[in-house]
Amino acid sequence: MNIKRSLALLFFFLITSQAFAIDPVYEGPNGIRAQVFATNCLDCHSSDLGSARRGAPPNVNWDTYEATLPYAERAIVRAVEEMTMPPAGSGIPQLNDEQKAAMLAWQSTGFPNTIPSNSSFDGTVLILPVLNIGDQKARATFISTPLKNSPTGYGFVLDSVVPTTVSSDKAATFDPETGQMLLPSVELIEKGVSQGSGDAQMTWVTGSAPMIFTLESPNFPIISSPATFDGHLLTLPVVNVGNQKYHAILRSIPLLTSPTGGGFVLDSAELTTASSDDTATFNPETGQIVLPVVKLIQNGVRQGVMFIDMELVAGSDPLLFSITGFSVIPASPWYPGSQ
Ligand code: HEC
Repeated sequence: MNIKRSLALLFFFLITSQAFAIDPVYEGPNGIRAQVFATNCLDCHSSDLGSARRGAPPNVNWDTYEATLPYAERAIVRAVEEMTMPPAGSGIPQLNDEQKAAMLAWQSTGFPNTIPSNSSFDGTVLILPVLNIGDQKARATFISTPLKNSPTGYGFVLDSVVPTTVSSDKAATFDPETGQMLLPSVELIEKGVSQGSGDAQMTWVTGSAPMIFTLESPNFPIISSPATFDGHLLTLPVVNVGNQKYHAILRSIPLLTSPTGGGFVLDSAELTTASSDDTATFNPETGQIVLPVVKLIQNGVRQGVMFIDMELVAGSDPLLFSITGFSVIPASPWYPGSQ
């Protein structure tokens, strides 16, 4: 195994983030029915229980997809958000973190029954339900970004990768020898509606970690490059500073002098020619920074949007920003392509 190949495999599998090893679909041995409902709910919520339902409403059943779908949002509320299901004292455990993450990922894609075999892209998040890496199979998500050295000016940052047992005839393939990634039939989704599909090709920027890929396919549409926050890094695709434009990445840090106790430190700023709907403006004279609405994305799942107010800490080097206020609007229900 050459060095490049082992590096690539290492980077891929280091990023296990908040792995949900449960597939975010209803069906299958690794799906929500088998890994959540069967283990924690069906003792009371199955249509074949007759009078042995221990008080569970007769119409709320999780044993078939048809029965589940109308109440799926309620399952999230009761078992994930409020954690009032299973009822306390029933002897049946509440959901663990892995199960809760899988339920939220399932909700975020509209409660699918089976894994869509297509890869999909909504202008921000690229989801590869099945990515073949050598003899391993993973579900991977990427976030689009303007990228200077890419032939198209755009690229993708690997956001999450977790092992999967799902198969697909439209699987994407990563070849660690060459760094090439081939993506057949990526479905383009805008505001939840499919706009058709096309093939794409990307190349790993050797040595990059987190892994960055240049987008090689000129016809692959980038709907817009968003401002995103993943709980750690704030990515601003375009910051106007006077008449220059920068691509900036800020890292969140605790900051005792800030009214919120939090701040950001500038990680990198590079001149860019990209354009974005989510533009920030920075005035170095006054220290004032005006941010766009920031998309909160964790593990490829959009959690909602954030409004952040911050100002420059005078005299700081590297630049420090104090967060003076922020608010989060959670997305629920969330569909690919919505805010
Ligand atoms: C020990 C029996 C038991 C188990 C196990 C159980 N439930 Fe329930 N469930 C009930 C009872 C009793 C009610 C009616 C009382 C209530 O709503 O609190 C109910 C009602 C519900 C409702 C309908 C009421 C509403 O708020 O819409 C939902 C949804 C629900 N359960 C979800 C779940 C989920 C999801 C699981 C598994 C993670 C689960 N339950 C596990 C007993 C159970």
